Amino acid sequence: MNSSCLESPRGPNQAAVSTAIALLVCILIGGLKVSAANATAPVVTDGGWHAEVAVHLDRPGRAVSPELYGVFYEDINYAADGGLYAELVQNRSFEYYPLTDPRNPQAAEMKPLFSWQTIERGGMKVKADAAILEPLNPRNPTYAVLTLTGGSGEGGLANRGYENGIPVRAGATYDVSLYARRPRGAAAPLRVTLETPDGAVLAEAELRAPGEAWSRQDTVLTVARSDPKARLVVTTKSAGVVMLDMISLFPRATFKGRKNGLRQDLAQAIADLKPKTFRFPGGCIVHGRGLGNAYRWKDSVGDVAQRRPNFNRWGYHQSYGLGYFEYFQFCEDIGAAALPILPCGVSCGFEKPFQVAQGPELDAWIQDAIDLVEFANGPAESPWGRVRAAMGHPAPFGLKYVGLGNEEHDTTSFREVFPRFVEALRRHHPHIQIVGTSGLGPNVPLFDLMQQTGVEIGDEHYYQPPEWFITNRNRFDAAPRTGPKIFVGEYASRGNTQFNAVAEAVYLTGIERNSDQVVMTAYAPLLARYGFVQWPRANLIWFDQDQLVKTPNFHVQQLFSMNQGDRSVENAVTIGGRPGQSGGEKPVLAVSTMLVSKDGTLIMKIANPGAEPVQTRIAITGAVAAGKTAELLLLAAPKDATNDREQPERVRPVASTIAAGRIFDYTVPAMSVQVIRVGTGLAGARSSAE
Ligand code: AHR
Repeated sequence: MNSSCLESPRGPNQAAVSTAIALLVCILIGGLKVSAANATAPVVTDGGWHAEVAVHLDRPGRAVSPELYGVFYEDINYAADGGLYAELVQNRSFEYYPLTDPRNPQAAEMKPLFSWQTIERGGMKVKADAAILEPLNPRNPTYAVLTLTGGSGEGGLANRGYENGIPVRAGATYDVSLYARRPRGAAAPLRVTLETPDGAVLAEAELRAPGEAWSRQDTVLTVARSDPKARLVVTTKSAGVVMLDMISLFPRATFKGRKNGLRQDLAQAIADLKPKTFRFPGGCIVHGRGLGNAYRWKDSVGDVAQRRPNFNRWGYHQSYGLGYFEYFQFCEDIGAAALPILPCGVSCGFEKPFQVAQGPELDAWIQDAIDLVEFANGPAESPWGRVRAAMGHPAPFGLKYVGLGNEEHDTTSFREVFPRFVEALRRHHPHIQIVGTSGLGPNVPLFDLMQQTGVEIGDEHYYQPPEWFITNRNRFDAAPRTGPKIFVGEYASRGNTQFNAVAEAVYLTGIERNSDQVVMTAYAPLLARYGFVQWPRANLIWFDQDQLVKTPNFHVQQLFSMNQGDRSVENAVTIGGRPGQSGGEKPVLAVSTMLVSKDGTLIMKIANPGAEPVQTRIAITGAVAAGKTAELLLLAAPKDATNDREQPERVRPVASTIAAGRIFDYTVPAMSVQVIRVGTGLAGARSSAE
């Protein structure tokens, strides 16, 4: 697409003349209709690089996918429990057990009483154990048993959350719930407090004395003053045995005020990306560390006390409190299409021994896929629709996509089982669009299987250096327009510097040019909690208990997602200048142009991954009335710049207004990404390509 008509190297004093001649040639052969005054105006050059960007509104390009920008969410780096899920108690149901995983230093220490400590006051002694003999229910087997001895005082348990303390805020309200029973000893009320590390009470409430059978109790605490390191404390004053389970503390202020809801700031940051799709729950956790560890969605719905927790592929435990219902609800809340990824009865190719479900066991995995659609979309009277309705959402969620598999290896087994899932889904739910894994890496080893099975979309993933994303920016220009569409369902350039972000922007300009074929994208991973990280190189949003940091990569995602048209517009980029001086490699200037048909806004995205600015002349042909000014959103920073907790806004987009017109000059800063929005007077225009 790039024209070569202005590319001849020249020295500075030749620049103006040759530029004018070359521009004239372009006008003649390219149909560039500009005013004579503008056509002869030289591109300003000071011996650096310069560029001409010809934007051909008179040659409307392909349709832009309305779902091009989405997010990929996986419970990695404590993204769910300790992250997006607003629960403040760690290990609330005492289901932790030691794990072996070098990526998580705490894995081996995880025992049923992890994150809990005993409280002994005024002469009361407490022995705390974990037991499974008389559980709340078989899916939630472990509970705490406190044996209290002593004539006076009080004893109990305290939870420290995730970081040696739970952050609580003055004036905020917290919902507390727990299950308790007292098989032996005199009945005495339970007391629930939020306390500072030295025991000062921030809020307190009394609960009734537990009976002999398990029963749930609820209360509300309102905190008088803030403390970053509070503890939730449950005590009783009488000796004997008390059993406790599912001890929970939720801020009342969750995202959209949902019960069992999401942490407001993190959920809002995701919502602010304006994602059109939400892929969940992973990633590698979908098939986990073998079939027994795979994410089975049925374990994650219904009453939270009835959910079956599971350990995590990344070396920690998942409560499944944030489960499929909550994911669907979040999608609805942020206006994103849900894209659940189901395991296909084969284990991850990296896990040894490799496992494949067979016979009736495999049928159960296939049935899970069929039932999931009923859970999401079925009538409230259907078996799984009833579960959804009982959880508070009688109306269908309107699920339209089901993802099958995550980065499966190219094995005979996968090639055998995958078509069975496709066939069953087609038979039971023909309206569902299937997103199938194309396998791991840019060579998409399973894409041919996606073609053969006729799924709507193939899901490809790659984590590569930034240079790869720049070199491969034209990857989709020659992609066949037949067969499955493409979802770039996980990608990242292995870093959170400005250079990484710009390289990803370069790649996205190529995707936008081809978004009739590449219909969805998602950066990965999304979330990482400082100090709890298994995927250290690059994540979109970093956070701790009270702060979040948006990376330069986040800003690129948001700039691209929030500046979308519906029709791509052809452009031609021509680089000139420099060699007569000190030479050097020709810079890359990646440009995407699209039109918002309804109001005629031309949206240009320009990424410059180079170390030098590029003086650029932008010439728009086909505008009815080009705006005299344009809105500019600029993300520019040194190559290694990144954001952190000390300076979370070191790299961020800055908005301004620049002079525009049918032809205008703009210097693209080094190492930058920009969005330029300019009116064209083409409101309501329909493409001639239609
Ligand atoms: O995003 C982190 C991991 O990378 C995902 O779990 C997996 O799908 C990919 O390999």
